[in-house]
Amino acid sequence: MSNQTQTLGLLLLIALASGALAGGMTAFFMNQGSSPSGPEIEFTLQAFISGFVGVGGDIDGKTNPDLVVPANAKVTIKLLAGDGMPHDFTIDDLVQTDLVALSGNEEATATFAVGDEGTLIYYCSVPGHYTSMNGKLIIGESTADSPDPAVNLDKNVIRKPNDIPAPVGNRSATNVEFTIITEEVTAKLDDGTSFTFWTFNGAVPGPLIRVRVGDNATIHLKNPSTSEHTHSIDFHAVNKDGGGAAFTQAKPGETKSFSFIAEWEGVFIYHCASPHVPTHISKGMYGTISVEPAGGLLDVDYEFYVGQNEIYTKYPKGTQGHQEFDDRKQLEENPDYVIFNGMVNALTLGEYSLNVTINSTVRLFFAVGGPNIISNFHLIGGVWNRVYYETDWSAPNMYNAETIAVVPGSALAIEIDITRTGKFILVDHALTRTFDKGALGFMYAT
Ligand code: CU
Ligand code: CU
Repeated sequence: MSNQTQTLGLLLLIALASGALAGGMTAFFMNQGSSPSGPEIEFTLQAFISGFVGVGGDIDGKTNPDLVVPANAKVTIKLLAGDGMPHDFTIDDLVQTDLVALSGNEEATATFAVGDEGTLIYYCSVPGHYTSMNGKLIIGESTADSPDPAVNLDKNVIRKPNDIPAPVGNRSATNVEFTIITEEVTAKLDDGTSFTFWTFNGAVPGPLIRVRVGDNATIHLKNPSTSEHTHSIDFHAVNKDGGGAAFTQAKPGETKSFSFIAEWEGVFIYHCASPHVPTHISKGMYGTISVEPAGGLLDVDYEFYVGQNEIYTKYPKGTQGHQEFDDRKQLEENPDYVIFNGMVNALTLGEYSLNVTINSTVRLFFAVGGPNIISNFHLIGGVWNRVYYETDWSAPNMYNAETIAVVPGSALAIEIDITRTGKFILVDHALTRTFDKGALGFMYAT
């Protein structure tokens, strides 16, 4: 026998010994740790692209039900075809059934042993099916798969929307210098929920940096020794390798500097460009640089600064405790939180809302860090009167815009004429992000 045949034979023997090979169905028996000493337990699931649906018992009718099993159990999964599409039941490194609904295969069965504790993710391994077809296999006492307790709920990383330096004004080009500190901060993300943000200068978004076109700017990027990670900075306004990222990879305890000439007018984003780049951005490392024209910007009465990013966490939004970052959800571009300025609903809270008076003009800088999700930026109760997006400051390129698609990795300026009193609401008009995931802000005109 070839090795392959021997292996197959062995698998079949084990499957037969486990009693799982019934009715001509194939099965795998794969052991997680020691041989099962606990009870035998069986679940039936029907496979639909919208999710696994429980059949019988406690899970009957539930979509992607929690499968709760005792420690060291021998678990049998019976998978029924549901919608005629091929599906399987997979737990990484443990079990995978045959595909159902393929070549008339109406069901598939697999038996496997579990260890004494833990939570595993089951899913359909057909490409594209994971997002809707996944659930938890909860083993032993760990039925409460809960996060660590929240910490530092008295701290936040909210960038106050009026935390903006003065406009450059009317001056000639000169040498300017900025020190930016990469701070890793555990703080409040939502009521009862904490998260470890990575920031520029301790708040999200990073500081608004203002230079005049033609300035020779020097950036000192300081990564404190208390950091755990290397950070860097990539300015989209900079005509240099990596927008500066090639010169600023700063390990904990290092400061890296570089200089550039501000060649292009307009509003640009900057972000950390250290691996894994999207993770650094999602955790808060993005900000805005405004390259202002000779002669200065038009005078306005108020200026504000808002940034949007999305965060991918292990547990759904609303979970009390400390949220860990979730790489897998990030790969799926399926965030649990979409936020303005570093916290759920940050800009609705008294001291962080945008406060203006009637008959004034407002300039709003808006940055989308992403890393993956476009903002459909909208003002409920008004319009964006003049939009400067991917352009210099000489003229707006949109007037009275209702909703503007601001792509990840871009920033812009908007002028708003306040002609009435009352409440204006800043939203991402992909509205579940606002009403369910946290991207909400208020502007009050008195
Ligand atoms: Cu599937
Ligand atoms: Cu970073």
